[in-house]
Amino acid sequence: MESFDAVIVGAGAAGLMCAMTAGNRGRRVLLLEHSEQAGAKILISGGGRCNFTNLEIAPERFLSANPHFCKSALSRYTQHDFIALVERHGIRYHEKTLGQLFCDGSAREILAMLLAECAAARVDLLTGHSVTEITRADRFRIETNKGSFVAPALVLATGGLSIPKMGATGFAYETARRFDLAVIEPRPGLVPLKVTGETLELCKALAGVSVDAIASCGRDSFRENILFTHRGLSGPAILQISSYWRDGDMLLLNLAPSLDIENLLADRKRTRPKAELKTVLAEVIPTRLAHALAGTAVSNIPIANVPDRVLLQLANRLKRWQLKPSGSEGWPKAEVTVCGIDTAALSSKTMESRSVPGLFAIGEAVDVTGWLGGYNFQWAWSSGWCAGNAV
Ligand code: FDA
Repeated sequence: MESFDAVIVGAGAAGLMCAMTAGNRGRRVLLLEHSEQAGAKILISGGGRCNFTNLEIAPERFLSANPHFCKSALSRYTQHDFIALVERHGIRYHEKTLGQLFCDGSAREILAMLLAECAAARVDLLTGHSVTEITRADRFRIETNKGSFVAPALVLATGGLSIPKMGATGFAYETARRFDLAVIEPRPGLVPLKVTGETLELCKALAGVSVDAIASCGRDSFRENILFTHRGLSGPAILQISSYWRDGDMLLLNLAPSLDIENLLADRKRTRPKAELKTVLAEVIPTRLAHALAGTAVSNIPIANVPDRVLLQLANRLKRWQLKPSGSEGWPKAEVTVCGIDTAALSSKTMESRSVPGLFAIGEAVDVTGWLGGYNFQWAWSSGWCAGNAV
């Protein structure tokens, strides 16, 4: 049985960062991964270019039952620290939009960088190893299908439940529960939303149309594009609001946030009475959206002949469209897991359990979920770095 200073389970973003940080401190580290490939989600992230962090990281852009928990880690290992690492490895990158940093080349470069750092820090990385049992006496004993290991520190870095076909498991939650750490019931986040009935018919008719919009749920709202799909709604504004949405909640969509649509329609009725309604609308919103929202009955007639009441209804639909999603597209399509291991059980400085010394949890497994746009990787880097400095 081999002995280590720390065993980290899960060689994703957080586990790799934790391992290289601990290894660089001279700790003897074992990183266990059940898949054959470490960092698989890094490779598919950001459409293959990995949106590895965001210039505008701020604690308010993370969801958690304790919104203060992420502050310490995010301030101790910042986006600028990770950018410096990327630059030291000569990886070229660019800001796409809203502070989101992507590789110019490929996400493979980020994974290669982390693996090179782990190798330089003499981390033992074992892929294809499934943990079968964990026990704890004076140290943790980790049994796998290919051998047993002992260490005084055990780090849970197996991520959340999104994209099960890529190897996501509930391992971190199950292990946390076994050691009496509370887990807040995980749910899919950054996920497309489904609708039914008339709304579904409308979405189907508009599938592929993307429009600048504000999506709101209660007090939370995001202004970015939304995309109509054959099942409902997607696009960045919907993915963002989906992390805040719960079953049964209403969504409010403003499909023309830059327009005073009521005044515009009244003005055109006065100045261009012979123009068909669809032509007027198509000046300011995508033609298919104009057709679908106005309805064929009125969209082909001159605006002068459309009653004010109908124009007002149309303006309302565009600016204040209320709908109740029937559900989300679930774990297979979710980019992240909202909720997870309760932060009340952990030190915000080290990610170590308060009740089980030597047990740590990092990354997406913990109840800290970032916005779309590099926030979730930054949480993985920051929390991984904190634990890597403590094991
Ligand atoms: P992560 O899931 O990365 O790693 C966990 C590791 O543990 C995996 O290697 C897994 O195989 C392994 N594992 C699981 N169970 C195990 C077990 N029982 N035993 C051993 N190993 C086990 N975020 C972002 O900031 N920018 C982006 O561009 C994207 N893009 C993106 C695209 C897509 C399609 C998805 C699904 C997600 C993103 N994300 C993202 C989110 C981001 O990928 C995610 O938040 C981080 O990878 C989380 O890092 P972790 O290390 O916590 O988990």
